[in-house]
Amino acid sequence: MKKQLIELRVNGESFELAVEPQKTLLEVVREDLGLTGAKEACGTGECGACTVLIDGKPILSCLTLAIEAQGKKITTIEGLAKNSDLHPLQKAFIRYGAIQCGYCTSGMILNAKSILDENPKPSRDEILKGLEGNLCRCTGYNKILEAVMAASTGED
Ligand code: FES
Ligand code: FES
Repeated sequence: MKKQLIELRVNGESFELAVEPQKTLLEVVREDLGLTGAKEACGTGECGACTVLIDGKPILSCLTLAIEAQGKKITTIEGLAKNSDLHPLQKAFIRYGAIQCGYCTSGMILNAKSILDENPKPSRDEILKGLEGNLCRCTGYNKILEAVMAASTGED
């Protein structure tokens, strides 16, 4: 299919790209921009591994066309650290051992960020509910919950 010229704003930078109109945002960030933090696991909207933020809200990038994301503010996990200082959620995930294979981690952290941005002091149940679309096969979820709780208290 004929490529289309699009402009995407990712992690504060603008990129002009020629992409096939059916290409997903996940494919474009990984293959065209080299931002491989977002993962493809199910590819069908079931697992949350491909989560990125669009205008601060979590979306499944495997189900979103790149052309639909034009004019919006896209944040991937690579955009969270500031001057190589990790985001408090990233630090907490490391400190609490909330990462094993890491396949779910970028989606989990970005979704957690959107939860905390909306409600800086969520309850454990609110975090659990907010993260229910993000599957993790390794950690048993407790460490992830502890890490998000710790980040919400400002522990650094
Ligand atoms: S890869 Fe997108 S939801 Fe699983
Ligand atoms: S750490 Fe492996 S899937 Fe979550």
